[in-house]
Amino acid sequence: MLEKNPSLKELFGFVKAGFTEFYKSEPQWIVSAPGRVNVIGEHTDYNEGFVLPMAIERYTIIAANRSKKGNFLNWHCAKTNRTAKIELTKSIKKGEHGNWTNYIAGVFAGYQELGIETGALDVFMYSSVPIGGGLSSSAALEVSTATLIEAVSGKTIDKVKKALLCQKAEHSYAGMPCGIMDQFISALGKKDNLLLIDCRTQKYELVPMNDDAVSVLIFNTNVKHKLVGGEYAQRRKQCEEAAKILGVRALRDANVKQLNEHQNRIDSTVYKRVLHVIEENERTLKCVEMIKSRKWVDVGNLLYSSHNSLKNMFEVSCEELDIVVEFAQQIGVDGGVYGCRMTGGGFGGCTVALIKTNSAQDIASKLIDGYTKRTGIEPSVFASRPANGAEVLMQ
Ligand code: GLA
Repeated sequence: MLEKNPSLKELFGFVKAGFTEFYKSEPQWIVSAPGRVNVIGEHTDYNEGFVLPMAIERYTIIAANRSKKGNFLNWHCAKTNRTAKIELTKSIKKGEHGNWTNYIAGVFAGYQELGIETGALDVFMYSSVPIGGGLSSSAALEVSTATLIEAVSGKTIDKVKKALLCQKAEHSYAGMPCGIMDQFISALGKKDNLLLIDCRTQKYELVPMNDDAVSVLIFNTNVKHKLVGGEYAQRRKQCEEAAKILGVRALRDANVKQLNEHQNRIDSTVYKRVLHVIEENERTLKCVEMIKSRKWVDVGNLLYSSHNSLKNMFEVSCEELDIVVEFAQQIGVDGGVYGCRMTGGGFGGCTVALIKTNSAQDIASKLIDGYTKRTGIEPSVFASRPANGAEVLMQ
């Protein structure tokens, strides 16, 4: 069965009531920021290339008010039922590695450097973005935190700067050397649009995706293999070293001819990584053209090519993701599936599929059935329209 996305209105009501019960007073601010799914352009952002994500109807939502209890953030997460106390010192401390408060602390530290402060706060947070499912729950947390700081302080910064500040928080406080895509789309997403981002110039273009007959289906394999962070950092390093050998600033500037000319100086694994990046950038730009002319079968084929490349060239897929794509391909266009691929960093998490809206339930049942029988794992599946980026909902 397709999961329903709780509406932003429902989430608003939930955190407002939750705050009141938890702190015995009303919140003053409520803000939200969405998770994302990447339609195409995978492992291209840190190579200064192109990505095409969309914000999804899954959000981190925060209710807050000023606190009278010292110089602390009292941060309650209703999803995990954990409460953290973060001290707002001159240099805000990093928690232990892997601690969820690092994302929050990193963003507060970033704004503090700009002279933007909130003082002590009581916070009640909830998230409908699956945690650790490759749908950027961490970016949603960072960007919603940034949005809260701006709402409370009354000082806003440019949205691109805000995304970069959140990315820096993830690098230096959470230790994940991510690209710019996730924070960017969470901050800048627009309802009914995908966002084509040029990760070099940080310029972006809205790509309308408002054909009601076509939907985006997100299938969470509910697996997360270990070593995700390590593998990610290794891919990033391989790409940067290859760029040096090819004599280009980033792999965004490389082409197949150059790659082949340098083949004897590049080992076969790195060769495959580079080829993926070159072709994935081309696929992303092509995909934008196809979406604009509503050529859904062509878009779908690009998604399958992207998946194959991530599986065989960039080697970031896994058995569970491949199984979903295989079943999607079996259902085919006649059964309502245009295309499907793994999305995000890889090694588990989600697939993204482009489907015919009126077949959504039927496709979901078939995929869930096939996947559960093969893997013994229960997945979660939902559809989403492109949603808005971060918003202040009450102030
Ligand atoms: C993760 C990172 C992004 C991007 C993707 C792969 O989601 O956070 O910056 O690199 O992986 O495309």
